[in-house]
Amino acid sequence: MKSEEIRQSFIDYFVGHGHRLHASSPLVPHGDPTLLFTNAGMVQFKDCFLGLDQPESRRAVSVQKCMRVSGKHNDLENVGPSPSHHTFFEMLGNFSFGDYFKEDAIRFGWELVTQVWGLPPEVLSATVYEEDDEAAELWQSLSGLPVERIHRCSESENFWAMGETGPCGPSSEIFVDTSPQLPQVDWVEGTDSGRYLEIWNLVFMQYERDEDGVLRPLPNPSIDTGAGLERVAAVLQGVDSNYETDLFRPILDAAAALAGSAYGRDPEADVDKRVIADHLRAVAFLLADGVIPGNEGRGYVLRRILRRAVRHGMKLGFDEPFLHRLLPIVGEVMGQRYPELRSAQSASQETVRTEEEKFLSTVASASRQVQETIDLARREGRSALSGDEAFRFYDTYGLPLELIHEITEEEQMGVDDEGFQEALEAQRERSRSASAESQRWLESVRELLRQEGRSKSTQFAGYDSLRLEPATVISLAGLDGDSVELVDALSQGERGVAILDRTTFYAEAGGQVGDQGWLRWEGGEARVTDTQKNATGTHFHLLEVVAGRLAVGQVVATDVDGAERYPTQRNHTATHLLHLALRHVLGQGVRQAGSLVAPDRLRFDFTYPRPLRDEQVDRIEELVNRWVLAARETLIVPDRDFKEAVAEGATALFGEKYGDRVRTVEVADLTAPDGNGSLRSLELCGGCHVRNTGEIGLFLISMERGVASGVRRIEALTGEGALSYVHRRRGLLNEIAGELGVPLERAKAEISSRRERNRGLERELARLRMELVSGMADEDETDVGGIRILAREVPSAPATEIRNMADVLRSRLGSGVVVLGSRDEDKVTLVTAVTDDLKNKVHAGHLARKIAALVDGSGGGRSDFAQAGGTAPDKLPAALRSVVDLVRQELESEEPAG
Ligand code: SER
Repeated sequence: MKSEEIRQSFIDYFVGHGHRLHASSPLVPHGDPTLLFTNAGMVQFKDCFLGLDQPESRRAVSVQKCMRVSGKHNDLENVGPSPSHHTFFEMLGNFSFGDYFKEDAIRFGWELVTQVWGLPPEVLSATVYEEDDEAAELWQSLSGLPVERIHRCSESENFWAMGETGPCGPSSEIFVDTSPQLPQVDWVEGTDSGRYLEIWNLVFMQYERDEDGVLRPLPNPSIDTGAGLERVAAVLQGVDSNYETDLFRPILDAAAALAGSAYGRDPEADVDKRVIADHLRAVAFLLADGVIPGNEGRGYVLRRILRRAVRHGMKLGFDEPFLHRLLPIVGEVMGQRYPELRSAQSASQETVRTEEEKFLSTVASASRQVQETIDLARREGRSALSGDEAFRFYDTYGLPLELIHEITEEEQMGVDDEGFQEALEAQRERSRSASAESQRWLESVRELLRQEGRSKSTQFAGYDSLRLEPATVISLAGLDGDSVELVDALSQGERGVAILDRTTFYAEAGGQVGDQGWLRWEGGEARVTDTQKNATGTHFHLLEVVAGRLAVGQVVATDVDGAERYPTQRNHTATHLLHLALRHVLGQGVRQAGSLVAPDRLRFDFTYPRPLRDEQVDRIEELVNRWVLAARETLIVPDRDFKEAVAEGATALFGEKYGDRVRTVEVADLTAPDGNGSLRSLELCGGCHVRNTGEIGLFLISMERGVASGVRRIEALTGEGALSYVHRRRGLLNEIAGELGVPLERAKAEISSRRERNRGLERELARLRMELVSGMADEDETDVGGIRILAREVPSAPATEIRNMADVLRSRLGSGVVVLGSRDEDKVTLVTAVTDDLKNKVHAGHLARKIAALVDGSGGGRSDFAQAGGTAPDKLPAALRSVVDLVRQELESEEPAG
């Protein structure tokens, strides 16, 4: 069976048994700060298990993209040596939300594995949680497995949890004997060696674990089944390793071809190739889901995986970027099922190449740094690098620990690994608390409402109107500092969160900020300062009661502030136009990497390797304004099929969770940049937009800069914001003209001519200073042992000029020593110059240092010419007077003693 047939047979089987098919959610879990990446099929259904969300159907099936590289489920270290572990993998899953439970789950699993996939029962075993008699009996009666092939395992094996908190429960698994021709071995030995391979995990979701580790029963016992596609494929395709399946083999072969050494010849090099194949898939999928390499969180994980792959490539002999060249093969193998791979491909390749180049040059320079630190350690008599030193290379240079080990081992130097782990843990702690912070209040409100069982999605009626009456307050929470508590009412002056049955307040999503405005009722009003929502669409109105008392059950009018919302809508539609313009001016590889749509500005981050040139910025601005002037209608389809919209070319926002039904925003009939034909902006978007692009008024780019490697940021203004920007700029220009005393049109010419005049004046001034200095020279000359010394203070001037003066005076002297000092309010500049014939007797650099010490400074230089500085201007005259003595000392120290 080809892997695609396996996916399809799984889906068909469960759809045939009343399950609703769900598309894979992105690798970045939507609205779940507890998880870095989607790590199981159940993640998109977390709220259904918790009873927070009503599933569309109580039975579901999916093929889910998963990553296991951090947190509770982390297989990173196994990748390479293991034939059956991956960072990225696909999980086949069937789910029941309070519908069927253990019996049907076991029956379905057994039937599919033995009858649809045709695995002989003799090679199969099952495991159950040691206390789960019910499951053990069910296996026996439903599958006919003999008791000795139903193993009871402890909690560490057979109790599954998504993360430290969240849904969990006892589990039960199906194992395959991958070498049935051999005599049976002990269960533990067989599972440890990988001979008995787990291919199916059934979780009886019964509990939710809270932050204190306490298990609370879930409202409905549910089922979460997961089967790793790669393992199933290996078993059904009769190969020894997941890497030999049709999912991996083409990738391995491509890597081997590029490296010039076939897979399967050298076990050590095979590990490297497996790591590359695994990580390449992970990198391709993460990039396609909008993760960007960075220094923290998800971006950091991506960067580490990518670098790890490059590291293994280096072992295979690659010394130039190679990974990006392999990337297209992932699209070839998986692009059919995951079209996002193909649309992201060119941008991903660019990103990977940039990362690779940076890493390779980093490794080169970091290796030198490690070498220097090793030398230092040796001088200090140490036999190991400290944990902090090693961590610095790891953290600042991104040098993997194993590479640090390699370099140090060659030099017979150790590394304090424990200290390294401590430093690493400390850093992790820092980043954990930072990301938790941002979501905290939302989470606590959400948690509170969940406990109370009052969660309910809010009907949003704010696309076309800002005001709505009546709406009813369903729940209220009071905010007191950091703590949140459910309350029956909020009094005047109190802050809290209100949930209504319906609202016109848009909750922050897709980059668009949450609405502000008022709730009003008979005898009272509350100011809404922000609106947020949870994954199930409950809108949280963060508010302060300004007058009266707001109680649960109160009927209110919602009144969104149009002065904030209308500009936001302009900015949102303009963001879509900007996105389209960027792709046409900079290339289709440009990908959105985040956006902010606020009332006062829009911000758009996108992947692009270089700063934009002025004419590119102009061109983008021009295009968008052309589309604004064309006054095109926005066409919004509130509810349509996701697949159909994507097939029609709709751009999806990365990191967003889309259901099967989506909303699209379209602006069509936009003139192409070259004037030939027309373009269309079509995005999946739940945001608020203008009806007609003409409403945008004016679009101005106010800033373009880099925010991370390979990511640029544009900020832009529209409508009144753009107008007031222009007004401010015009005001500024007029002020400048006023200062210059000429009309604005002549300001530029005036500045040029003033600059020219200034240069002339400076030259004249320098000439006069020089004249002054050289005219007085003879009077200051003294003679020490036949050497002419000229030491004097000169008027304050730039250091270059003083050096010039010293040079001129030295050549006038013919043979001798020149010392010039100048001072302004807080500093001294000193220059010493010695003619060639004397530089072996009097060292200009030494002399400069000694004089500088007298003016609380330092400096030095060559034997014929040196410069120094000081911080005590009042000591300059005395210092210059000492020059004669200092020269004398210099001469005496030259004389051999005795
Ligand atoms: N959540 C369980 C797992 O990941 C079963 O799907 O193994």
